Amino acid sequence: MPQFSDRVERIAISGIREVFEAAGEDAINLGLGQPDFPTPEHARQGAIDAIEAGKTDAYTGNKGVPELREGIVQKHERDLGLEYHPEQIIATAGGSEALHIALEAHVGPGDEVIIPDPGFVAYDALTKLTGAEPVPVPVRDDLTIDPGAIEAAITEDTAAFVVNSPGNPTGAVSPVEDVEAFGRIAEEHDLLCISDEVYGRILFEGEHRSPAEFAPEQTVIVDSASKTYSMTGWRLGWVAGAPERVERMLRAHQYVQACASAPAQYAAASALNGPQDVVGEMAETFQARRDLVVDGLREIGLDVPEPEGAFYVMPEVPEGFVDECIARGVVVVPGEAFGDAGEGYARISYATSTEELEEALAIMAEAYESVI
Ligand SMILES: Cc1ncc(COP(=O)(O)O)c(C=O)c1O
Repeated sequence: MPQFSDRVERIAISGIREVFEAAGEDAINLGLGQPDFPTPEHARQGAIDAIEAGKTDAYTGNKGVPELREGIVQKHERDLGLEYHPEQIIATAGGSEALHIALEAHVGPGDEVIIPDPGFVAYDALTKLTGAEPVPVPVRDDLTIDPGAIEAAITEDTAAFVVNSPGNPTGAVSPVEDVEAFGRIAEEHDLLCISDEVYGRILFEGEHRSPAEFAPEQTVIVDSASKTYSMTGWRLGWVAGAPERVERMLRAHQYVQACASAPAQYAAASALNGPQDVVGEMAETFQARRDLVVDGLREIGLDVPEPEGAFYVMPEVPEGFVDECIARGVVVVPGEAFGDAGEGYARISYATSTEELEEALAIMAEAYESVI
């Protein structure tokens, strides 16, 4: 038996994959965490032009090409009124690497990182990879992240907390008073707030706000082209934060990644600097599907908090429901894949066609009947 690090032995392959493998090939997959649209034409063209101009043959600067970082700066100004300098941005291999370097640069053995439960699977795993200890804090009954619960979980070892709105797996959106509270908590307790905003543009009610508006020095924004522009395969995300934090994150990024993929950087630059209508159109489509799925699940008899963003809905489900759905050919993910507090819930992604969603709702109704 080869020897492995304690850190890697503490993490496992995400439970979501296991669910996919358990389902048959013809199953309707409501387990997916990615939009089902093509990458916008102008984004793809940005990569093609860059390749043909020979701009993608070499490493780019570690932080990324200027046109991309400028586009990211403009985006944060446009969406949140935040004024970053391009030097405060690092382009990464997706939001995944952005989370990794944010944690790697700030926490390690002996530190605690407060994460939402249920929450995106990487928060727990990436925290453990740094040697720090994840401290899961249950979300409220309406599935929003509870600032009071975060504050109550702070100990002298707490170094950081992660927030995520709109949230995966919940679709919940933090109201502005909570976002402000995240900023206050970070400042008062001198903690890093990692704000995962990858779903910030997939929002149906209210407006997207960031703790960085309230605590710019304490917040690192993690964002990505993946969900906003349907670019999960391109692997392009970024971090934005205070200069001394960015300098530390750059040290990790430089050695694990060198630079984000050059074609992906040019595609994302075109996406960010070009027309944004496509983003609103995708969000409208998701909203119509959200309504379809929420109404459908309520008709079945499930208790469904209405998600205000992302493309997930997380109802409480009876015992055996998830297995019964999978056995009948509809893949949904058991809530416990996202943390202990997810037990008794299921994550249903509606990043798939209306026809498939309607078919899946009919099957889920049968599954429900068979287990109650
Ligand atoms: C909440 C959240 N953050 C970050 C990511 C990472 O996405 P990517 O690495 O494709 O940018 C995901 C992907 O599912 C996510 O759901």
